[in-house]
Amino acid sequence: MLLNLSLFFLFLTASDITVQAIGVNWGTTSSHPLPPDKVVELLKSNKITKVKLFDADPLVLQALSGSNIGVAVGIPNSMLKSLNSSRKVAESWVHDNVTRYVSSGSSGVRIDSLKVRHKNVNGREVLNLGELDCFEIEAQLSEPSVVLGLSTIFGKCIARNTQTLIRRSELIYPFGYVAIGDEPFHQSYGEQYHPFVIGSAMNIQTALAKVSLANQVKVVVPCSYDTFQSESSFPSKGHFRPDLNKTMIELLTFLRKHHSPFFVTISPFINFHQNKNISLNFSLFEETKHPRNDGHRTYKNSFDLGYDTLVTALSTVGFPEMDVVVAKIGWPTDGAANATSSTAEIFMKGLMDHLRSKSGTPLRPRNPPIETYIYSLLDEDQRSIVDGNFERHWGVFTFDGQAKYNVDLGQGSKNLVNAQYVEYLSSKWCVVNNNKDLSNATASSLDACSTADCTAISPGGSCFNISWPANISYAFNNY
Ligand SMILES: *[C@@H]1O[C@H](CO)[C@@H](O)[C@H](O)[C@H]1NC(C)=O
Ligand SMILES: *[C@@H]1O[C@H](CO)[C@@H](O)[C@H](O)[C@H]1NC(C)=O
Ligand SMILES: *[C@@H]1O[C@H](CO)[C@@H](O)[C@H](O)[C@H]1NC(C)=O
Ligand SMILES: *[C@@H]1O[C@H](CO)[C@@H](O)[C@H](O)[C@H]1NC(C)=O
Ligand SMILES: *[C@@H]1O[C@H](CO)[C@@H](O)[C@H](O)[C@H]1NC(C)=O
Ligand SMILES: *[C@@H]1O[C@H](CO)[C@@H](O)[C@H](O)[C@H]1NC(C)=O
Ligand SMILES: *[C@@H]1O[C@H](CO)[C@@H](O)[C@H](O)[C@H]1NC(C)=O
Ligand SMILES: *[C@@H]1O[C@H](CO)[C@@H](O)[C@H](O)[C@H]1NC(C)=O
Ligand SMILES: *[C@@H]1O[C@H](CO)[C@@H](O)[C@H](O)[C@H]1NC(C)=O
Repeated sequence: MLLNLSLFFLFLTASDITVQAIGVNWGTTSSHPLPPDKVVELLKSNKITKVKLFDADPLVLQALSGSNIGVAVGIPNSMLKSLNSSRKVAESWVHDNVTRYVSSGSSGVRIDSLKVRHKNVNGREVLNLGELDCFEIEAQLSEPSVVLGLSTIFGKCIARNTQTLIRRSELIYPFGYVAIGDEPFHQSYGEQYHPFVIGSAMNIQTALAKVSLANQVKVVVPCSYDTFQSESSFPSKGHFRPDLNKTMIELLTFLRKHHSPFFVTISPFINFHQNKNISLNFSLFEETKHPRNDGHRTYKNSFDLGYDTLVTALSTVGFPEMDVVVAKIGWPTDGAANATSSTAEIFMKGLMDHLRSKSGTPLRPRNPPIETYIYSLLDEDQRSIVDGNFERHWGVFTFDGQAKYNVDLGQGSKNLVNAQYVEYLSSKWCVVNNNKDLSNATASSLDACSTADCTAISPGGSCFNISWPANISYAFNNY
């Protein structure tokens, strides 16, 4: 008996699968943000089909409406306390920031988290669509291009391989994520958000279920690179940060119950930056004379090393099967040694090739992350620099949408397309008058730097060598 509860039609080809698995983070902590409609154009012209946000700005969601770009909306850390303590607050958040935008068909925001990946089960190649609200979905994959019609039957999904459904692919159902907090477990926050995260996740989950969106929109918690570690840097010794072990088990139990993936930042850059013993080549997916051996496993790049450290941490607490989404990964272009456009380009190309090869990692061979979100789309000159000045320079594009280098994010071999028709303030540059008394200028320029972005003229920055008093001019012009 076929209980036709809901039908999902997906059009998949080998290349679509990879294209769909790459998204970008779109942050807006910028003094001169590119207008949302320009950003959406930028995404479309570069064939980027998924975007992760840090909040739920109505102007941003409006701009994404009808674009067919999948969306993960974010909840700022500052809201977690009230979301934990009140279901009503969670319900109105969902109403304002999700329900309003999830509409049927392609006119709404396609809040999208479709995950598709190859899994080798008993020697059979199968497609796993585990994110649908089913316990197990497997389909024989016999051709490079398949169209699956899935129906939910008593919690089990059956996938059919039917070419005739191609024309109905416009019925793609909106899928999505709500991300609870922006890396609320980051060590720099101490434990201030820990008590509210799981309660917030549960309240948002309940609110989504109440409006029948729990199947399409998954609740996730973005975890920072420092939630897991390995003192010896052997992946096989990976574990969660000790202060998190109880919270992590609660989180993982919640995620497993609702078939949601684990969102995590993998940061080869920060590992390189903090660890003298990691070579640049190893970090950039390049040839390395000293691969790392961990028992009989060999690690040739820092990404695999970090990812498998996490995989061990998950297994150690009893969640070896947990699906992983790399929620943030990138390489900055200023503000630290080796943070340049050319190293970023090498890193991103290496990452993309690695993901496209679908080779996975030594602990999860042929089982790569189900999705990967590049960090970041644009530079943000107002981002916090507690972790370092490089924090404001993660963009593949500058703040105004101009590509810093080239990488195939889904647009193929063509160069990245820049934002078009960007409007600028009139260009004016003021220069410090050397004939005036400048005794106070240094102090006041440092004042200016508390608001302006002075990361480029700080030690390690690309313009550090312009020196005094040109750096004073820079600071005030940037103010
Ligand atoms: C989180 O919310 C629950 C349910 O309202 C409440 O019992 C708990 O005290 C809250 N946690 C904190 C740390 O306030
Ligand atoms: C919707 O999200 C925005 C941005 O995160 C937030 O400011 C607003 O308060 C949310 N709406 C509700 C009802 O919580
Ligand atoms: C969690 O960490 C605490 C303190 O670091 C430790 O005493 C405890 O055994 C750990 N629990 C688990 C389940 O690992
Ligand atoms: C650095 O890496 C090498 C090669 O993997 C290893 O033998 C050495 O013990 C490491 N040193 C430190 C301080 O981690
Ligand atoms: C780093 O990688 C480059 C390019 O793959 C290679 O030419 C170079 O020899 C490598 N350096 C080391 C130290 O392995
Ligand atoms: C990396 O940075 C170090 C220190 O600034 C420098 O000596 C080295 O040449 C840089 N390497 C590359 C490939 O940029
Ligand atoms: C420098 O600052 C001091 C104290 O605020 C002030 O008295 C003095 O006039 C300033 N000098 C100039 C040249 O602006
Ligand atoms: C600063 O360094 C860059 C690159 O190292 C160089 O091209 C530029 O001329 C230098 N500028 C000054 C003012 O020394
Ligand atoms: C400019 O350079 C001088 C001399 O190196 C330094 O003391 C001052 O702090 C710098 N100012 C800014 C705004 O970076």
